[in-house]
Amino acid sequence: MTRAAWLSDIHLNFLRPVQLEKFYQLINAAKPDCILISGDIGEAPRLQWYLQQLQSRLPYPLYFVLGNHDYYSASFTDVRSLVEGVIRQSDRLHWLTISGVVELAPDVGLIGHEGWADGRAGDYDSSGVLLNDYVAIRDFVGLDKPRRLKLLNQLGDDAAAYIRKWLPTALATYPHVVLVTHVPPFREACWHEGGISDHDWLPHFVCQAAGEAMLEIMAKHPDRQLTVLCGHSHGQGSVHIRDNLLVLTGGAEYGKPHVQKVFEF
Ligand SMILES: [Fe+2]
Ligand SMILES: [Fe+2]
Repeated sequence: MTRAAWLSDIHLNFLRPVQLEKFYQLINAAKPDCILISGDIGEAPRLQWYLQQLQSRLPYPLYFVLGNHDYYSASFTDVRSLVEGVIRQSDRLHWLTISGVVELAPDVGLIGHEGWADGRAGDYDSSGVLLNDYVAIRDFVGLDKPRRLKLLNQLGDDAAAYIRKWLPTALATYPHVVLVTHVPPFREACWHEGGISDHDWLPHFVCQAAGEAMLEIMAKHPDRQLTVLCGHSHGQGSVHIRDNLLVLTGGAEYGKPHVQKVFEF
């Protein structure tokens, strides 16, 4: 049996050193065999430090994807090369986005990708929402609304392409696949303060292209199960999108990280 502790949106940059140590003690008390993290670990300037500290305090394999906040104050290229450098020096830190399929248990496979809110759910054109992403991540700075949408679409398509490549591969070997991502792939999984985000927020909170890829693939595998772990909208919830497709969304509050759930596979 493998005990996998799931963390999401831990935003470590909001914690003082004493709070950080208490959080690591809380995780260790759950006695996990491995850790799954669905993004928003911190922000780019201290991301390397946080990853190294997670590794030093938590003596298990750590499987993670990044969230939008992890790119703040930097560019996509900068953060990708930073994270590649960190994981190269570690045998326990695994960035799922470049890991393909990982075995969690003899009948459970693991894959993951950040995903990105792709502007397709809700009503992008009428939405007045201006996420911090669009001023804090260099790639978005200076883009007008149509060009921003183009980039959001592209990021969503990248996530979908990764899922189309690796989910069928994982399902070919494992009857149950866990997919870790940051952004909810379905409107129905976009929980916020007890409800579903509205049409103004959905374009910035759902990776629709990733969800469409999952639906297509799982329709071809009725005898297989997919469990998606996501975060980003900070509202806890779960939804069966199909009989064989369950999405769990992690609840989060800045400064109060917790263990979402411990799975026994
Ligand atoms: Fe978050
Ligand atoms: Fe996020």
